Amino acid sequence: MTKRVALITGITGQDGSYLASLLVSKGYEVHGLMRRSSSLNTDRIGHLYQEEQDATSQIRMHFGDMSDGASLFRVLKEVKPDEVYNLAAQSHVKVSFDKPEYTTDVNATGVLRLLEAIRLLDMGESIRFYQASTSELFGNVQETPQSETTPFRPRSPYAISKHFAFQTVVNYREAYGFHASNGILFNHEGPKRGENFVSRKITRAVAAICHGIQDKLYLGNINSRRDWGHARDYVEGMWLMLQKETPGDYVLATGEEHSVRDFVELAFEMVGRPIEWEGSALEEKGVDRKSGKVLIEIDPQYYRPAEVNSLVGNAAKARDELGWTHKTSFKELVQEMVEADMQRLASAGMSRA
Ligand code: NAP
Ligand code: GDD
Repeated sequence: MTKRVALITGITGQDGSYLASLLVSKGYEVHGLMRRSSSLNTDRIGHLYQEEQDATSQIRMHFGDMSDGASLFRVLKEVKPDEVYNLAAQSHVKVSFDKPEYTTDVNATGVLRLLEAIRLLDMGESIRFYQASTSELFGNVQETPQSETTPFRPRSPYAISKHFAFQTVVNYREAYGFHASNGILFNHEGPKRGENFVSRKITRAVAAICHGIQDKLYLGNINSRRDWGHARDYVEGMWLMLQKETPGDYVLATGEEHSVRDFVELAFEMVGRPIEWEGSALEEKGVDRKSGKVLIEIDPQYYRPAEVNSLVGNAAKARDELGWTHKTSFKELVQEMVEADMQRLASAGMSRA
C-alpha cells in the first residue's frame, strides 16, 4: 500500500503540531511548509522533526511562505500531496488591527495563491483541501449558538481576511469542483498554545506567580466569553472532513461558553490560590483570597478596537455527518494547561531566589 501524502501549512503552530502527530500516527507521509525565521521555530514539532539527512525524521519540511506564490507552487510540485491542510495564518486578532495589510495578504490572498497553484498544476482533482476557518467570522453574533447557517458579521481585519478565504474555498469548490472544506473552528487551546492568547497567558502567569517569578497578570476584557476546546480534539475533526466523500463546511465547538474571568478563577483555584474580585471596570482587581495580594489587574492596552463579546458553537452537523464530538472538558483543558506550565518551570528549576 502506498502511503497517503499530506502537506500542512502552519505546521510549526499549535494546530500544525497536533495535526502532524495525528497524521504520522495514521501512517501518512507528512510534509510541512515553514517560513524562514532568524531563530529556530520548530519547537512544537521537535518530537517529529530531525534534520533532512536524518532517516528517523518523521516529517519533511519545506521553506515557503503564504505571501510568496512561487514558493507554494514549488512545494506542491515537489510534494504532490493527496491532502493539503492550510493552517498558516497571522492568527492573532488584536495584532491584526496593528498589521491589517499583512494579515490580509497572508490569510486572504495567501489562500487564493495556494488554491490557484493547485489549479494551475492540474492537481484540483487529486487533492483534498482543508481551510482553517474560524468562529471569528460570526463576530457581532446574529444568533446563539452559532452554526453553519448563522450569518457572518466579522469585526476585525483578521476575521475579514478569513471571510475572504472562506468564500474563496467555496468558490473553488463550486467553480472547479475542488474537494475543499472549511472548518469553522471555535477557540481551541492546549499546552502548545501561543503565549499571547489569553488562555496560555493566564496559565503561564499562574505558574510564574506560583514560582515567585511574576507578581501580577495584566488582562484586557475579562467579561468576554468563548467556547474553549482542546486542539488535540479539533485536529481529528479536520482530518475527518477530508475523509468524507463530499466536501463541506463544518462548525467544530464544544457548545459550552465561559468568560475569561471564569478561566482565571479556575486556573488559580487549581493551584490553591482562589481569587476574589474587587472594584469595577478599569479599577477591577483579582485578589488572592488567602494573602490579600493583588494578582490580576486590567490594562486597557489589551482591549480591541472592536470586540467579539461572546461566541458559542453548535457542532451538530459535524456530529451527525462526521461522527465528531469534543472529548476534553473545559475543566480538563485548564487543568492540563496549568499543569504543563507548572511542570515547565519546575523542570527548568525556575524560582525567585
Ligand atoms: P498559530 O499557532 O498562530 O500558528 C500559525 C502558523 O502559521 C505557524 O506555523 C506560523 O509560522 C504560520 N505562518 C504565519 N504566517 C505565515 C506565512 N506568511 N507563511 C507561512 N506560514 C505562516 O495558530 P493555530 O492556533 O495553530 O491556528 C491554526 C490555524 O487555525 C490558523 O489559520 C488560525 O487562524 C486558525 N484558527 C485557530 C483557532 C484556534 O483557536 N487556535 C480557531 C479557529 C481558527 P511561525 O511558527 O513561523 O509563526
Ligand atoms: N490575547 C488576549 N490577551 N486576549 C485577552 C486578554 C489579553 O490580555 N484579556 C482579555 N482577552 C480577551 C480578548 O479580548 C478576547 O475576547 C478573548 O480574551 C480571547 O482572546 P484570544 O485568546 O486572543 O483569542 P481570540 O478569541 O481573539 O482568537 C482566537 O480564537 C479564534 C477563534 O474564535 C485565535 O486563535 C484566532 O486565530 C481564532 O480564529
